[in-house]
Amino acid sequence: MSDQTASTEAANAQTTEEAASTAPERGGCAGARAAAEKGIRGVFVMRAVPPPKIEPPPPVAAEPSPPSGELYGICNKREIRDRMGKSFPLMRRWTDGKLRPWDIFIARFGKEYHAYVNECPHQHVRLDWEKNNFFEPNYLKVLMCGKHGSQFDPETGVCIEGPCKGARLEKIVCFVDGDDDVVLAGVNIDLEAQIGPALGDPNVDEVLENDGFKLQSTKREFL
Ligand code: FES
Repeated sequence: MSDQTASTEAANAQTTEEAASTAPERGGCAGARAAAEKGIRGVFVMRAVPPPKIEPPPPVAAEPSPPSGELYGICNKREIRDRMGKSFPLMRRWTDGKLRPWDIFIARFGKEYHAYVNECPHQHVRLDWEKNNFFEPNYLKVLMCGKHGSQFDPETGVCIEGPCKGARLEKIVCFVDGDDDVVLAGVNIDLEAQIGPALGDPNVDEVLENDGFKLQSTKREFL
């Protein structure tokens, strides 16, 4: 074999190797490729792997402690603008002696202040659709859940429109005292406790759609 022929064959072999290394792999399935290498031919059906089942946390064998009889000053009334609200992550006492996170909000409607547990009765997610926004944004007359748009009377917490019509928010006794502080009564909380993370809150950090609005859900730091 002449030198020229040998070098041509070597060049061809190199080109073939390069082509093989750069050629796209046939088939996107590792199982199909492995079977093809063994000479097995046929149709391969890819099946979706079912998502892992998420078990809900076990029920707590305790319940919220009865009211302590104390009054709890939460904020000054001027900290909440009219037709706005403010969320307060609190720690509530339970009968097993533990403190557990308890998110509430206070909504201002003119000169009235109303406090509620921050939980929609429909799917038990937070109500606020944006930081400190609890009111329906067009007319600012009713409270609105950011997930499916249920609307609630701000004074009673009763759902007047939406998927949980007739249900109601859990109301907390709330008034403005002589120092202009918004005060909670009829609860048992620890305002000094470090705030723990809210568990099982599916609303955190989600961007929600609601009748064409893009709604950014909120986190629990709003103090
Ligand atoms: S979760 Fe509030 S309306 Fe559905």
